[in-house]
Amino acid sequence: MTLWNGRFSGKSDPDMFDLNASLSFDQRLSVQDVRGSQAWAKALEMAGVLTADERTQLEAGLNQIESEFRSQSFVFAPNDEDIHTAVERRLGEIIGPLAGKLHTGRSRNDQVATDFRLWLIDQLPYLTAALAELQAALIARAETDLLSPLPRGVGKSNGYIIMPGYTHLQRAQPILLSHWWLSHFWPLRRDLERLTALEMRLLVMPLGASALAGTPFPIDRNSLAESLGFDQPSPNSIDAVSDRDFAAEFLFIAALIGTHLSKLSENMVLFTSSEFGFFELDDAYATGSSIMPQKKNPDPFELARGKAGTLLGYLTGLLCTLKGLPSTYDKDLQEDKVPVFAAYDTLIALLPVISNALNTLTVYPQRMESAIDAGMLATDLADYLVENGIPFRDAHHLTGQVVKLSHEKGIPINELTLTDYQSIHQIFNVSVYEVFDPRGSIARRDAFGGTAPQAVKEQIKQAKDCLKE
Ligand code: ARG
Repeated sequence: MTLWNGRFSGKSDPDMFDLNASLSFDQRLSVQDVRGSQAWAKALEMAGVLTADERTQLEAGLNQIESEFRSQSFVFAPNDEDIHTAVERRLGEIIGPLAGKLHTGRSRNDQVATDFRLWLIDQLPYLTAALAELQAALIARAETDLLSPLPRGVGKSNGYIIMPGYTHLQRAQPILLSHWWLSHFWPLRRDLERLTALEMRLLVMPLGASALAGTPFPIDRNSLAESLGFDQPSPNSIDAVSDRDFAAEFLFIAALIGTHLSKLSENMVLFTSSEFGFFELDDAYATGSSIMPQKKNPDPFELARGKAGTLLGYLTGLLCTLKGLPSTYDKDLQEDKVPVFAAYDTLIALLPVISNALNTLTVYPQRMESAIDAGMLATDLADYLVENGIPFRDAHHLTGQVVKLSHEKGIPINELTLTDYQSIHQIFNVSVYEVFDPRGSIARRDAFGGTAPQAVKEQIKQAKDCLKE
């Protein structure tokens, strides 16, 4: 028996049954399906379709099914095509033919759209918590790695941990490590905001749209929505049964989180390599090689980088499914659930590992500092000329000549003599050598959002406030 075989005289082909069945994945909606049915039974009673006694019996049966799901003692039958069928079949076993009244005025079309939304609403807190944990790990790194724990003897050292900042992966300008950590905080902050905005759109209830045209019974959809925790009922039944924007939007956010993790990860893979040697992963978050005994591989970050591609695939897959569809429900829509479940599972598995890999890594401040060369202060040299009254465009050109001369002489720009400098422009004087302190360069970038210690301390505070919300 299926829910629909009245008009059929022939049997379903077993392979066709397997192809059509969605139980293997939509059983994840079991709790939400029962909750939806309990609310629907109540709405039917309020509409005068069920008596109070009938509703009580339905509710008792559904409660039992719910506890069977929760205790994992629910037994699926071979003919259970999907979760909705399984629940209705079991309800019949428990309360008898009255179970057949539950589906009055609704369809699996509005039912599945409702269950799926409820499922995502239920999972969002777990995802936001995992994201917040990673954000907290980044803030903790930014705080811990602001000042070097090691004594420094050289120059005007003030103990801030500094590193080369890159553009085009070429050494560009010195920055604080702390500032760099926080550069990975803010994208995740925006992802969190996106999830909050998604929730607003998830809170629209399709139930009562029925197959496509709406329910013919006097269901109070506003109180039904309220009883299920939705903000409002869907305003158009045709749209309600086909709308999977929320699933696509979730997959977009998941893909974007993946992309953000991938950027962090690509950096981590580079920075833990011997060539950089900026960081070392804790043994718990690295793996070895079966043949090369010396290897310590940054697998969690490689996996994050790889899974970003898979997450993007889930999004493009669903969008391709949706783009071909005519109005209302089509069986193609059954393809919506697997990618959403998979994307959620991927992030829930990935985020805690990345958080802990960051929490436990070792930082090598000297390696980072020694990767900063005087050439990275060429912009500061141009700024020095600007401060001495030269227009920036000319200052840029003159500094280019300094760099050229240093290449010709085979020495860094801070080792050119004052005579060399003055051969390029008379305005250079001995104070030019003060430019070549990377910490000075960092300290000068103290406008809001810059890499100067004061600005970064303010940023840490702001990030913490955001996380508290
Ligand atoms: N298993 C189906 C799905 O996931 C439920 C809806 C079935 N609706 C239908 N008209 N056959 O989409």
